[in-house]
Amino acid sequence: MSKIPPKQEGDPNTTGHSWDGIEEFDNPMPRWWLWTFYLTIIWGIGYTLAYPAWPLVSSATAGLLGYSTRGEVATEIAAVQEANAGINAQLVSAELTEIAGDATLASYAVSSGAAVFRTYCSQCHGSGAAGAVGYPNLLDDDWLWGGDIENIHLTIAHGIRNEDDDDARYSQMPAFGDLLEEEEIAQVANYVMTLSGAEPQDATLAAAGAELFADNCSACHGEAGLGDIEQGAPNLADAIWLYGGDYDTLVETVTYSRYGVMPPWNQRLSEAQVRAVALYVHQLGGGE
Ligand code: HEC
Ligand code: HEC
Repeated sequence: MSKIPPKQEGDPNTTGHSWDGIEEFDNPMPRWWLWTFYLTIIWGIGYTLAYPAWPLVSSATAGLLGYSTRGEVATEIAAVQEANAGINAQLVSAELTEIAGDATLASYAVSSGAAVFRTYCSQCHGSGAAGAVGYPNLLDDDWLWGGDIENIHLTIAHGIRNEDDDDARYSQMPAFGDLLEEEEIAQVANYVMTLSGAEPQDATLAAAGAELFADNCSACHGEAGLGDIEQGAPNLADAIWLYGGDYDTLVETVTYSRYGVMPPWNQRLSEAQVRAVALYVHQLGGGE
């Protein structure tokens, strides 16, 4: 037990509380501090009345000024939309094939199309549009469904093999695992390797695959394997692969087939946005 020394004349006032011999001074708060404190309380109450603040069950008080950051963004978007309304209307009413020839319209379409691409397309096709396995490269001039502006527009607007749009691009390669023997799949996979000039894994098997290809594959991929954009059947002779041209991947593709899906964009984007992004894709390098 520590001993508290007896109080002496001139000692500061204490509250009389003491913890382990430590006493609490009884000094008043400085005036300036106290007034600042009261002012912040008044300010705080005023602020929560003026601006949205107090949570309610499913919303919040709106505030007397009626201000919200969401509202501010909405006003900004509306202003931009109004500013672009004229050129968007022009974009929608122009002939698709003529837009590229109109310098003002084309440069507007390409720059706003680039923004649409970054937001809605890059997660699948890559930010530089170079694609990935199963997601086609949009920079080259190898097109599954056609690379002129009308075909690109149609592909984007309605999508591919989706169930949300009756006009979606549609085709389906059969899974040949159910139709051919393993040996036959090995033969035709080897043969497909030779189409693009690659070394087959086994030349004898490749030779035997030629007839199988003609019988089973040429209806969609063409006799020389050049593909068919009417059916979205890839060119197998150009060494550009959507899924892969090595032996194992080819066997997998032929055995199980593939089913690449793209959503229809006319449901989420305006026609002006679809046209803009179609023009953007068209001018990336491979547009026909
Ligand atoms: C969810 C993934 C996904 C998103 C998002 C997506 N795509 Fe696709 N896209 C695909 C797939 C998969 C294919 C290939 C389908 C096939 O195998 O035929 C494709 C194909 C295409 C093609 C056809 C390429 C060709 O060779 O004919 C174009 C053009 C295209 N996409 C443009 C776009 C644009 C523009 C956007 C954004 C508005 C977009 N895509 C967003 C998955 C996507
Ligand atoms: C009914 C039409 C059809 C037939 C028949 C068909 N294919 Fe396909 N094939 C397609 C389509 C469509 C695709 C694209 C699938 C996708 O993108 O999802 C494809 C994709 C492929 C690919 C992937 C190409 C790449 O770039 O990765 C290979 C390889 C292939 N087919 C080989 C064959 C072989 C070999 C046969 C015969 C045994 C065959 N196909 C028969 C329609 C067909």
